[in-house]
Amino acid sequence: MKNKLFGTGTGLPASELILGAASLGSRRGYGAVTEDIPKILTAYADAGGNFIDVADQYQLGEAEEVVGKFINFKRDDFIICTKYTRSSEIAPSPANSGNHRKAMRQAVEASLKRLNTDYIDIYMPHYDDGLTPLAEIARGLEDLVASGKVIYTGLANFPAWKAALIASSIPLAALQIEYNLAQRTADRELFGMAEHFGLGTMLYSPLAGGLLTGKYRNGASGRLTLSKADGYHEDAATKAILDELETIAAEVEATPGQVALAWALTKNAFPIIGARTLSHLNDGLKALEVSLTADQTARLNNISAVTMGYPHDLLKTVQVTY
Ligand SMILES: NC(=O)c1ccc[n+]([C@@H]2O[C@H](COP(=O)([O-])OP(=O)(O)OC[C@H]3O[C@@H](n4cnc5c(N)ncnc54)[C@H](OP(=O)(O)O)[C@@H]3O)[C@@H](O)[C@H]2O)c1
Repeated sequence: MKNKLFGTGTGLPASELILGAASLGSRRGYGAVTEDIPKILTAYADAGGNFIDVADQYQLGEAEEVVGKFINFKRDDFIICTKYTRSSEIAPSPANSGNHRKAMRQAVEASLKRLNTDYIDIYMPHYDDGLTPLAEIARGLEDLVASGKVIYTGLANFPAWKAALIASSIPLAALQIEYNLAQRTADRELFGMAEHFGLGTMLYSPLAGGLLTGKYRNGASGRLTLSKADGYHEDAATKAILDELETIAAEVEATPGQVALAWALTKNAFPIIGARTLSHLNDGLKALEVSLTADQTARLNNISAVTMGYPHDLLKTVQVTY
C-alpha cells in the first residue's frame, strides 16, 4: 500500500486506504466476530496500512478498545483518527454529548483511555450538532492540540460553509465525508472547500454500505437488508451505476466492489474501507491492484455525476476564461 501526504496542510504520510473500525465489535448487536477482529487489523497492517478510523460511539466504545489493544505494540507507527459527539453510551446525557466543550473534554479523556494511548493523531466532531457555536468548537480543538493530547484536528459531517469558517480560524487538517459512486453530493461544495484549505479528505462508505459490491442483486442479506438505517438501495440511478460497475469489473477481471474502491482511489482523498470480516478486507485490498483506464474512470464519473445546481450551473454560463 502506498502512502500519500495527508492533504497539503500537513507533512504526514498516510496510507492511501484507511481501515474503518465501525464494525470492529458487537456491542451494537451487529459487527465482526471476536476472533476476526485481530485478524482484520493484522491483515491491514501486514498490507502496509497505518491509518485507522474509529469513533467513541462505534460499538459503544468497543471499537476504540480493540484498536487500542492492537496498536499498543507499535503505537507510534499508526495514525489514529477518532471522533466525538454522541459519546460511547447508548443514551448519552445532554451534558455528555454534542459538540460543546464539556462533551469534548469528557470524550477525549474517555477515548485516550479506551485507545490506551496518551495522544490521538486526528480528532474531530462526528457531526455538526446544530447548536454549538463554531468558535467554541474551534477553540476547544485548538486547546486539545496545545495540550498535546491531539496532533491534528478535523471535522466530519459538517456543511461546507461551517467547515470553511472553522478552517479559517484554526489550522484544521482533516475532513471526513460520505462519498461513493451512489453519493457524490460532496462534489458541489465540500471538495472545493477541502482543496482550498488543503484538508486531508477521508471518504466514508466507499461501497455505499455494501450496495456497490452487487451482492444484494444476488439475493445476499447484509446490513442493508437487516437495517434500513443506511438508506442505500437499488433504484434507477444506482441500477445504472451497478450495471456499469459489473461491465467494468468484467473488463478488468475484478469484482464490482473492487472497481468501486479503485474509482474512489482515483479521487484526491483517502477512502475508508469498511470490513466486517477478514474476507471483506482481503477482497477490498485487491482494489489497490486494479488499474482503471482513463475511459473506464470517465464512464464511472459520468454515470454517477450529480447535478451541481445553483450557483454552479449559472456560473458555468457566465464566467469567461482568458
Ligand atoms: N463519519 C461518519 O459519520 C462515518 C459514517 C459511516 C462510516 N464511517 C467510517 O467509514 C468506515 C467505512 O464505512 P462503511 O462500513 O459504511 O463502508 P462501506 O465500504 O460502504 O461498507 C462496508 C460494508 O460493505 C459490505 N462489504 C464490504 N466488503 C464486502 C465484500 N467483499 N463482499 C460483500 N460485502 C462486503 C459489508 O457489509 P455487511 O456488513 O452487510 O456484510 C461491510 O460492512 C467505517 O468503518 C467508519 O470508520 C464514518
